[in-house]
Amino acid sequence: MGDAALSVGCASQTVGVADFKRAMRSLVSGVTIVTTGRGDSRKGLVASAVCSVSVDPPLLLVCVNKEASSHDPLLANGCFCVNVLGRSHAELVRPFSRQSAAHERFTRGRWETLVTGSPALAEAPANFDCRIRDSMSAATHTIILGEVQAIRMNAGREPLVYGFGSLGHYTPLPGEAS
Ligand SMILES: Cc1cc2nc3c(=O)[nH]c(=O)nc-3n(C[C@H](O)[C@H](O)[C@H](O)COP(=O)(O)O)c2cc1C
Repeated sequence: MGDAALSVGCASQTVGVADFKRAMRSLVSGVTIVTTGRGDSRKGLVASAVCSVSVDPPLLLVCVNKEASSHDPLLANGCFCVNVLGRSHAELVRPFSRQSAAHERFTRGRWETLVTGSPALAEAPANFDCRIRDSMSAATHTIILGEVQAIRMNAGREPLVYGFGSLGHYTPLPGEAS
């Protein structure tokens, strides 16, 4: 049976940008810094639009605004590192998300490399060092699919979270902590 035979049809209407932004505030997420490049050419931006895609092979995706200064270098370099921020990394969010503070990027935090040479933040709860496998234009953003080449984890480092426009921390419900 073809898909058309199962289709019930979908009505559509236009949703306002403000409503979309307001509703997305309730989708609480982790916070990462996505980095690429070496030495003086290092680039990075804060990104919460990061998500696991496949386990075997390990794939993840990152959505990057085409106007971000890291966008073109990411695609040109062909590799990047997703650095999951911990509670102690909150001070990195401002420089890596505001162009006015861009000169402070990589002056804070300890930056190392794993396999691809992209900057990997020391003491991050997790680093995912990736090679770009594919990318797709999606309106203002590019969806970048990365194949994970190396993982580093720091057990016990609490992740930073972002929701309702604020940074915060993760608290499991009583009885849920593993
Ligand atoms: C919590 C948070 C999450 C963000 N998530 C993303 C994201 O997923 N993708 C993106 O392109 N920009 C995201 N941004 C915005 C970029 O970090 C910001 O526009 C950055 O300054 C762009 O880099 P540039 O200043 O080098 O151009 C986020 C900002 C914050 C504060």
